[in-house]
Amino acid sequence: MQQRDVALEVTNAHKAFSGIRAVAGVTLEVPAGQRRGLIGPNGAGKTTLFNLITGTLGMDSGSITLFGHDVSRRPVHHRANLGLGRTYQITNLFLDLTVEENLVLAANPRKLPGIFAPWRNLRPVRDRASEVAEQVALAEKLDAPVRDLSHGEQRQLELGMALAPHPRIVMMDEPAAGLSPTERNNIVSLIGGLDRGITVLLVEHNMEVLLGLTDVVTVMHQGRVIAEGTPAEISREKAVQDIYMGTLEA
Ligand SMILES: Nc1ncnc2c1ncn2[C@@H]1O[C@H](COP(=O)(O)OP(=O)(O)OP(=O)(O)O)[C@@H](O)[C@H]1O
Ligand SMILES: [Mg+2]
Repeated sequence: MQQRDVALEVTNAHKAFSGIRAVAGVTLEVPAGQRRGLIGPNGAGKTTLFNLITGTLGMDSGSITLFGHDVSRRPVHHRANLGLGRTYQITNLFLDLTVEENLVLAANPRKLPGIFAPWRNLRPVRDRASEVAEQVALAEKLDAPVRDLSHGEQRQLELGMALAPHPRIVMMDEPAAGLSPTERNNIVSLIGGLDRGITVLLVEHNMEVLLGLTDVVTVMHQGRVIAEGTPAEISREKAVQDIYMGTLEA
């Protein structure tokens, strides 16, 4: 495959925490435009791998490239500038600001809140905020303070925050965790409706969600990749069933 067609390449990544080998030699390649799922039991190393890719954690060894650029030792903002967007397992919203204000901040990650006020009058930025609000089904809530949104709507906004700067790859760590079935359906259909040009890397425990959303699933266990295939192939694999299905939450 041509290098330019690869969105993300991780080669032999390692990360240990005081002796715990959280990521122990992970190699994976995600072609541009693919929807990739990442599953594995609690403690498998999914979030740690995620943080190595975004740059919030430093790698012990290995390499990571984004769209052909080696970012192994590059800071978070450098990776964001290459088109990496992410949502967080822990909420990362400004609760006292409105939906629009949050989206404006996300669309301009390098600006500081101190010079925030004048932007409200900048049409292109506000247009982008409206466009993204529409995309994540929050158009009616632009003026609502974030603390007044439901849990599900806050998740939708988190997705919007990731999308606002026009990312080429979006990473999501359990975007449906803790949501009601209705809220989960909402976020799943928003993710499913993303532009096919955006590469997606999704950590998710729910196999049904993965079946609907992803092209390929990578299974991690004890810091390593133990299987990779289509969601249908993965759900049939005996080793995956033994290791993973047994740990599924009800
Ligand atoms: N900051 C940290 N300090 C020490 N140990 C950590 C740290 N972060 C993760 N670990 C350990 O690394 C291992 C992998 O954790 P990680 O959070 O990556 O797993 P995970 O697959 O995301 O699990 P979950 O499904 O519960 O979110 C675990 O043993 C965890 O306890
Ligand atoms: Mg995790």
